Amino acid sequence: MDVVVLSLGGSVLVKDEDPSAYLSELAQALAEVSSNAKLYIVTGGGRIARFYIRAGRALGAAEQSLDMMGIDTTRLNARLVITAMKGHACPEPPRDYEEAVRAGMSYPVVVMGGVAPGVTTDAVSARLAERVGATRLVNATSVDGAYTSDPKKDVCAKRIPRMSHAELVKLVSGTAKGAGPTTVFDPVGAEVLARCRIPLTIVDGRSVRNLKLALEGKDCVGTVVSS
Ligand code: UTP
Repeated sequence: MDVVVLSLGGSVLVKDEDPSAYLSELAQALAEVSSNAKLYIVTGGGRIARFYIRAGRALGAAEQSLDMMGIDTTRLNARLVITAMKGHACPEPPRDYEEAVRAGMSYPVVVMGGVAPGVTTDAVSARLAERVGATRLVNATSVDGAYTSDPKKDVCAKRIPRMSHAELVKLVSGTAKGAGPTTVFDPVGAEVLARCRIPLTIVDGRSVRNLKLALEGKDCVGTVVSS
């Protein structure tokens, strides 16, 4: 059976409007994928995390405290996805990798947030992928793949359909550090995947149909990273 890890970006989960319709559609697709694969999902914090981090920073909080606020919001989002899964997923988000592995022995789907200060949930998903020997990792974010430059700022940016792990590491190296950064994939996570040679597919998570194809290892619109 395939073991698939999904890094579900907060930018996909936390939108302005009520996310319940999207979450129901997503949960249905995830349940279908989990009939053929063990599924581990790591939820990001998105806008809600950045809201708390910005306010906490303005109030003079230390980076570690800001990271803990970020982690709490990722766990809150994990609870929302667990709720949408209607009994299909482990009812409590694991607090660390060991708990996630244990939960995976009893449930078809495990949903968790961040685990420790200093990284993002992309890095958590990469470490979890290594720990559970994942067949693939899928990063569901708000852009449809890795681009030559930021497509939200540069109209000439081009999507890169395929790249090597080494190319991804180079692309994301030197991106922002400190609580609350956002990039196509966390540089720490990219290094972990390069080391253990786990393939990564980056897709726009707002298209549930396309995300499902990526989770199933089928052709999809996005960027495939492999060694
Ligand atoms: P995210 O993984 O959501 O970061 O964690 P992000 O870059 O904002 O990603 P998107 O936009 O959701 O895709 C939010 C913040 O929580 C803290 C970090 O400060 C991070 O920036 N965090 C998260 C940790 O410190 N450790 C973790 O394990 C996870």
